[in-house]
Amino acid sequence: MPLRHTIRGLLNDRAVTLPAAGATDMLLDHLRLDQRLRGTKEGCAEGDCGACTVLVGRLTAQGLVYEPVNACIRPLVSCDGCHVVTIEHLRGTDGGLHPVQRAMVEHHGSQCGFCTPGIVMALYALWMEQPHPSEQQIERALQGNLCRCTGYAPIIRAALAMGDYGTTDPLMGERAQVSATLLGWQDGARVDVTKDGSRAILPASVEDLADVLVEHPDARIIAGATDVGLWVTKFLRDLPLAVFIGHLDDLRRVTETDTALHFGAMVSYEGARAPLLAHFPHLARYWDRIAGWQVRAMGTLGGNIANGSPIGDTPPPFIAMGARLVLRHGATQRDIPLEDFFLDYGKQDRAPGEFVESIILPKPAPHSLHAAYKLSKRRDEDISAVAAGFNLTVEEGTITAARLAFGGMAATPKRATHAEAALIGQPFTEATLLRAAASLPQDFTPLSDMRASAEYRMHAAQNLFTRFWHESQGTPATLEDAT
Ligand SMILES: Cc1cc2nc3c(=O)[nH]c(=O)nc-3n(C[C@H](O)[C@H](O)[C@H](O)COP(=O)(O)OP(=O)(O)OC[C@H]3O[C@@H](n4cnc5c(N)ncnc54)[C@H](O)[C@@H]3O)c2cc1C
Ligand code: FES
Ligand code: FES
Repeated sequence: MPLRHTIRGLLNDRAVTLPAAGATDMLLDHLRLDQRLRGTKEGCAEGDCGACTVLVGRLTAQGLVYEPVNACIRPLVSCDGCHVVTIEHLRGTDGGLHPVQRAMVEHHGSQCGFCTPGIVMALYALWMEQPHPSEQQIERALQGNLCRCTGYAPIIRAALAMGDYGTTDPLMGERAQVSATLLGWQDGARVDVTKDGSRAILPASVEDLADVLVEHPDARIIAGATDVGLWVTKFLRDLPLAVFIGHLDDLRRVTETDTALHFGAMVSYEGARAPLLAHFPHLARYWDRIAGWQVRAMGTLGGNIANGSPIGDTPPPFIAMGARLVLRHGATQRDIPLEDFFLDYGKQDRAPGEFVESIILPKPAPHSLHAAYKLSKRRDEDISAVAAGFNLTVEEGTITAARLAFGGMAATPKRATHAEAALIGQPFTEATLLRAAASLPQDFTPLSDMRASAEYRMHAAQNLFTRFWHESQGTPATLEDAT
């Protein structure tokens, strides 16, 4: 197999080849310090504020796809074979301001200007998809962008008007050339680069990944880096050896059989959205509550599960939906119920050198009722205090099957087996759900921490049974539902 010891990519309108790069080098530092492109700002350095938003374009089966990402936590080596677009590259067809920039100026969308390049880049990504977006689409696009001084009203007015200032730009004309360049670089090589004692490997294929991990079982796997990136920028952790998997298209695939959806571990939240919601529409609002657009474009289903967090948002609904996890070591695969992966706090059923290859979600059973809830202090860009997935099968008024799973209630995401037992075989009534809620303390003894007290967690989780009942009857259960 060919081996390459450089990384290469397109940065705006030029090719960049780097002979040395480490796993801890972040794209933002490269842009600001090495390339002196200082339009991209650093605010929080943890993926929260969006000041560092740039676009990363990647060749996919659907062609060249650009997504907004947080450059502060985006590892530089993961941009190998990609096109990075920064604020400096934006321009209109006349060489002047880009339609998004013009709209921001005309609608007074900027005051101190610190957040502005990031906001323009997020809106630029939206404009590419939808030059005349709805207010809801704008709010979703800007969930990951913090403006402290202008206020969002003028920014939203600018976003509503951006399509009026133009719907084409020079980048659209450059796409064929960009695609040809990126295609020409696809050499099927394993990339192996090092800098300052930090080594990064980009395997050539999934088979190669399996081999690399057998050879280096202690290597850190890096998918979207929305967790690992923070270990570097916030905790200043070293990564002596990391294996990157974001470029492996076979891990980004979603396939569908008669009975199930199969998500490769590298499918991002955004990549999962359409196929997931086609079968599980109850997840639509829940999905928008996960992080902001940039993190949803980077963060993966595999990473959200593999990190073993008790407050990750995908395990509770996925466990309730009956998900199975496919793990691979070398050529050996095994699949297990997702709930069995979480052994204890910080401990998962994953052997050294083993990796999460895919997640299997069975399609909804006939007569099943699904719900997913996330409770957090803020609606947008916040981590769950409690998350829950409900999946009840109701036949002729009787609950014949029940799977309930909660996050934030124990050291791991976990099924509520006592509450499930209180439901099965019982009539589907509010009284039955309240009895199940009353049994929840037998399943969980939650902790108090900065996100919520133990009492709040238990009460709020129990109240979700009432909410589920009202929603199943078509009654808006919250103000948010009613509006
Ligand atoms: C601003 C911000 C907001 C966030 N909001 C939310 C939120 O609302 N809800 C939520 O649940 N999370 C949230 N997160 C956390 C994070 O986005 C998720 O946990 C994400 O899914 C992690 O996926 P990743 O691909 O980025 O993982 P990475 O950071 O690449 O990896 C995470 C861990 O999983 C391991 N890993 C990754 N892929 C594999 C694999 N295939 N096999 C084995 N091990 C693997 C890594 O080695 C590492 O230990 C947020 C993060 C940020 C920065
Ligand atoms: S600097 Fe805040 S998200 Fe990157
Ligand atoms: S314009 Fe000052 S932070 Fe947004």
